[in-house]
Amino acid sequence: MSEGERLTELAKRRGFYFPSASAYGGASGFWTYGPQGAALKSNVEDAWRDRYVVKEGHQEISAPTVMPEPVFEASGHLDGFDDMIVECGECGATHRADHVVEDATDIEEAESLPNEEVMDLIADHGIECPSCGASLAGEPVENFNLMFETNIGPGTSSPGYLRPETAQGIFVEFPQLSEYARNQLPFGVAQIGKAYRNEISPRKSLVRVREFTQAELEHFVDPEEDEPPLDEVADVTVPLYSAAEQQAEDGGQRDLTVREAVDEGVVASEWVAYYLGVSKRWYERIGVDMDRFRYRQHLAGERAHYASDCWDAESEVDGDWIEITGFAYRGDYDLSKHAEHSGEDFTVFKQYDEPITVERATVDPDMSYLGPEFGGDAQRVADALEALAERDPSAFDADEVTVEIDDESYTVPVEQTNFSVDEVTESGEHVRPHVVEPSFGVGRIIYTVLAHAYETDEVDGEERTYLSLPPEQAPTTVGVFPLMDKDGMDDLAREIAGDLRSAGLAVTYDDSGAIGRRYRRQDEVGTPYCVTVDYEALEEGTVTVRERDTTEQKRLPVDGLAETLEQLSTGDRTFDDL
Ligand code: GAP
Repeated sequence: MSEGERLTELAKRRGFYFPSASAYGGASGFWTYGPQGAALKSNVEDAWRDRYVVKEGHQEISAPTVMPEPVFEASGHLDGFDDMIVECGECGATHRADHVVEDATDIEEAESLPNEEVMDLIADHGIECPSCGASLAGEPVENFNLMFETNIGPGTSSPGYLRPETAQGIFVEFPQLSEYARNQLPFGVAQIGKAYRNEISPRKSLVRVREFTQAELEHFVDPEEDEPPLDEVADVTVPLYSAAEQQAEDGGQRDLTVREAVDEGVVASEWVAYYLGVSKRWYERIGVDMDRFRYRQHLAGERAHYASDCWDAESEVDGDWIEITGFAYRGDYDLSKHAEHSGEDFTVFKQYDEPITVERATVDPDMSYLGPEFGGDAQRVADALEALAERDPSAFDADEVTVEIDDESYTVPVEQTNFSVDEVTESGEHVRPHVVEPSFGVGRIIYTVLAHAYETDEVDGEERTYLSLPPEQAPTTVGVFPLMDKDGMDDLAREIAGDLRSAGLAVTYDDSGAIGRRYRRQDEVGTPYCVTVDYEALEEGTVTVRERDTTEQKRLPVDGLAETLEQLSTGDRTFDDL
């Protein structure tokens, strides 16, 4: 069994996650988190919120998952959010064209290649349909838009889409959000929520699904002035696999500190570098194995339509690298597009310390001249003259001035433009913020954390499987067992379980089967501590506490047990210290 298969087997058996709606045959790419999985997911989300909202001092919002079509026209998703599809001429199955190439060759990022090249690769390598084995040579490779379409209200007059990223719910609300931040840059807005993509070939359980949770932060910064607090992470070593290294013949990953990465220009944006450092620490905290982790820069053809630079955090499972987070410098792409399409103001007014006096060139074109001269184009000519005066006042030095609109030239006598340069006093300026975006896929992180926590060893001559999850992430913190369901041990165990729950710990009570089997059950869901109530507990007021990874046991007083277990689970104390 591969690492992924044995993980999915455990996940189904122990209630982490399983395919949805299987009573009706299910639908590929949809998974339900069971009791253990939902608890783990909520712990990962809490740890994310703690780091990226609370500690960073950002705001969190919760926007709708369905948004009207104009949002996605503006964002570029309607036109550009595509994957490559190839359909088998024999059985009609559809596949991601870049993936069939990657699976059949040693090409790694086929996504970055043009469709025609992928089609040629399919033919040249004699690639066959993964479903029926027929040749895919000659089948066209086409673009397939990944958004799920719906209708808002009855009829078809108001199309909408399930959001393919939570980010758009933040961008469209920028005017309000900026007010809540008192128009002070920089500020960040975070969101944890569902995103939907009609993936061509869902695969590897949680890795490529059609409905998934993203945790995204959109950090709005003034590109001219704002700088990240780089010193806070300057010494963090990050494993970087840059685009240049990927393209070099003997290239490979380099371990650099965040400071070195910036100074050497390996990571161009200090903001992106800052978040790579912050996130490296966060991944360690939640249990990603740093020996199976790297940051990989996108190759030029691989970047999303909005990003000028992008790094992925990748984890290794089963020998494959999985993108778990994207770090993108989105520039002002999104806010400019939404401003252009909505006509609303997507800038921040930046007040100067003192008002300044500047020379400002303006025009006030004579419409009684432009109208008869240019007919229906008169207003566009007037707007173009205004923009030109602002951009290049010297264009008005001659007797005539020419503007270009849609490849056509319009020439106007300067005296008809009422061009003038005046001194004006300004108290501030409108700034279009740039966006730095760390975008986390919660499901892929859970998959990684579980895969990296999966351990086996031998206990009492038997093989044992356990999940070595950090106590903060474990779905259950303490298992409480009465040694036997009699003589008051059950009553005391229930009382202890109640006390631990009141103290805020996640507790499982288990009185069924041999004690060894109860330990194994908790080991398999990663419960870090188990408390057993035996006869001595009744007589002495002490219980045994067993630590998961070492299976070591210590006797501790019932008095103060909740406090001790809480300290263990937050890392304030170690089991060795007890
Ligand atoms: N707002 C930017 C954005 O959405 P992305 O790289 O397309 O960027 C971010 O997605 C993260 O979402 C990925 O790093 C991945 O962890 C997760 N993700 C994307 N598509 C997914 C899918 N089909 N199934 C599971 N997770 C997915």
